[in-house]
Amino acid sequence: MSSSPRPCDGLLFFLVVLCVSFNGSATGTEANQSAWLSVDASQASARKIPKTMFGISFEEINHAGTGGLWAELVSNRGFEAGGESIPSNIYPWSLLGDESLLIVSTDRSSCFERNKIALRMEILCDSEGPNICPAEGVGIYNPGYWGMNIEQGKAYRVLLYVRSLASINISVSLTGSNGLETLATSNIVSDDASSWTKIEVLLEAIGSDPSSRLQLTTTRKGVIWFDQVSAMPLDTFKGHGFRNDLFQMLADLRPGFIRFPGGSFVEGVWLRNSFRWKATVGPWEERPGHFNDVWHYWTDDSLGLFEFLQLAEDLGAFPIWVFNDGISNNDQIETSKILPLVQEILDGIEFARGDPNSTWGYIRASMGHPEPYDLRYVAVGNQNCGKKNYRGNYLKFYSAIKSAYPDIKVISNCDGSSRPLDHPADFYDYHVYGDANSVFSLSHNFDHTARNGPKAFVSEYAVTGNNAGKGNLLAALAQAGLLIGLERNSDVVEMASNAPLFVNANDRRFNPDAIVFDSSQVYGTPSYWMQHFFKESNGATLFNSTLGANSAASLTASAILWKYPDDVTYYLRIKVVNFGSNMVNLKITIDNLDSNSIQANGSSQTILKSSSLMDENSFTEPNKVIPIKSPLKAAGKYMAVSLSPHSFTSFDLLTKSQTILVKEHVSIPNLSS
Ligand SMILES: *[C@@H]1O[C@H](CO)[C@@H](O)[C@H](O)[C@H]1NC(C)=O
Ligand SMILES: *[C@@H]1O[C@H](CO)[C@@H](O)[C@H](O)[C@H]1NC(C)=O
Ligand SMILES: *[C@@H]1O[C@H](CO)[C@@H](O)[C@H](O)[C@H]1NC(C)=O
Ligand SMILES: *[C@@H]1O[C@H](CO)[C@@H](O)[C@H](O)[C@H]1NC(C)=O
Ligand SMILES: *[C@@H]1O[C@H](CO)[C@@H](O)[C@H](O)[C@H]1NC(C)=O
Repeated sequence: MSSSPRPCDGLLFFLVVLCVSFNGSATGTEANQSAWLSVDASQASARKIPKTMFGISFEEINHAGTGGLWAELVSNRGFEAGGESIPSNIYPWSLLGDESLLIVSTDRSSCFERNKIALRMEILCDSEGPNICPAEGVGIYNPGYWGMNIEQGKAYRVLLYVRSLASINISVSLTGSNGLETLATSNIVSDDASSWTKIEVLLEAIGSDPSSRLQLTTTRKGVIWFDQVSAMPLDTFKGHGFRNDLFQMLADLRPGFIRFPGGSFVEGVWLRNSFRWKATVGPWEERPGHFNDVWHYWTDDSLGLFEFLQLAEDLGAFPIWVFNDGISNNDQIETSKILPLVQEILDGIEFARGDPNSTWGYIRASMGHPEPYDLRYVAVGNQNCGKKNYRGNYLKFYSAIKSAYPDIKVISNCDGSSRPLDHPADFYDYHVYGDANSVFSLSHNFDHTARNGPKAFVSEYAVTGNNAGKGNLLAALAQAGLLIGLERNSDVVEMASNAPLFVNANDRRFNPDAIVFDSSQVYGTPSYWMQHFFKESNGATLFNSTLGANSAASLTASAILWKYPDDVTYYLRIKVVNFGSNMVNLKITIDNLDSNSIQANGSSQTILKSSSLMDENSFTEPNKVIPIKSPLKAAGKYMAVSLSPHSFTSFDLLTKSQTILVKEHVSIPNLSS
């Protein structure tokens, strides 16, 4: 993901757009088009698709993690977001009570070395005397990230650090958005909090509100300091801190890999604001956090290197760590001075997979994961190939990583699809952004790429521009066309992921995205649902197929054999995108297949389409454009099917487990690395 288009961002800018006719003909008035597809289901034509083929690319953009997948409810919990000079802005914290009742500022009295800012609250009113506090108390509240989702019956753990010279009685409450309705409350009472004291409060909600806030109030005169105020739902995925509903959206895609933490987020506009992994590990309250200057918000780095690796493990996906290579948008480290950063990255790999006895493996173990994480891929920077120091820096990282960890696959930022790279790499990163027509036509981009050399990692692809809306059917169909082309070329393209993955609807920094959410709701855009058509492709078998048409039909197709999880059932899946505005009558022939091996009963077809090409999903209509599955009674070696205008169809033909097809599948050597 790039904040501003640059000439090196991808190849789209000088590609000839092929003749694609999604808007070229008047709908409905023309004769149907006809086309044929022949699938060669022989062993000779079969090739294994890499297990990693389709995955996800997570970037800290659009509040994807902070105020998103990471379930922390408090925004600016450590009061660091306002910067290091005091007094600082405490946004989005706000006051309950005017200046006659309390004075709130920040100072540098925190007990944490790397994040010194703490909140100082001087309460002028009291429970007795001339200046009586209001009955509901005075203090501060935090509205979270556009409201906290508090649900009746669920428990929330509030952790905070507090200090006061006198005794304290502080109410910790979750309230509705206007502060009037109390959903949960508890009191912190202590006679001695003269040094920083960690307090834990468990709150159980007696009501629900998706735009709640956390309040800290008192009616007692004195001075109270607060720091590192956290509120987390107890109910997160496996207690690992991931918001359940958002995690489930990812798990449902069964991604083969997860690339993180960006994107441009890795680079930073300035190096000082780039993602530095050592500042993201260890106890959460000691992490300094940093300003995400690319996407303009503070992140407390709760979602740090450990949590990303945990996320990958929880998803059953290979982690792909993209690290900063000493290059940001605006400044660069000279290659002659890069060695400390190279060591930092070697330490990060040791953190991920070193023995618990190793320096950094020990930290990981102390965080609760003594077993190594299965880190096999790292990417040297993001979209940096054109930068002056890229090649020099890359070579330093490459040789140091390969000598310490020969098995780790290293991903270069330079495009190796059109000419060989001038440096060693296992993969090259390739980004695709463009309008729908150009993305659809990129289906053929890798057809003529040299079959030897490093493999392609299409780590970011998206349809952008006005025609993509906030994620519509058109964008999804164009991307489906691209993915079919990548699948067909999965001997040279080993990984692909859509970007961006998530958008918090309150902070749409990049459009469109796959998954849209707010504090309490989530839906998938048509692109998200399109990706569901490819989740069985990882590790499946690709067959050769040939498509022909009598006119300029805008079609693309592929055929795979996939196995139902936990079962011995196999399906031959034929996917076809009809990117044109005409109905297409398609004759499908499956060659080199035992005539009895397809069972109509159990076969199905799944279609992604809608009444308008520009249709989108929304919080009110989350399922307007989703795949619809129905039985396929016509399933057989020869099929005549019709493809709706502007549609993506998957034909899943149930094959008998005893067929030659399956035996062949078993004997197919694993060609993927
Ligand atoms: C187009 O094909 C559909 C479905 O096969 C059929 O119902 C329709 O009559 C055909 N229209 C024309 C003009 O041939
Ligand atoms: C399958 O397609 C590939 C690439 O087009 C070709 O090289 C190969 O010969 C084909 N295999 C068969 C059995 O047709
Ligand atoms: C603390 O304050 C609450 C009101 O918020 C009051 O009900 C409670 O009695 C107080 N506890 C002590 C020990 O003062
Ligand atoms: C780790 O250190 C402990 C104590 O020194 C030792 O017993 C153990 O064998 C070491 N483990 C490994 C894998 O080196
Ligand atoms: C289809 O398969 C199901 C489950 O295997 C079976 O119950 C059903 O009777 C079959 N239907 C026909 C028409 O064969």
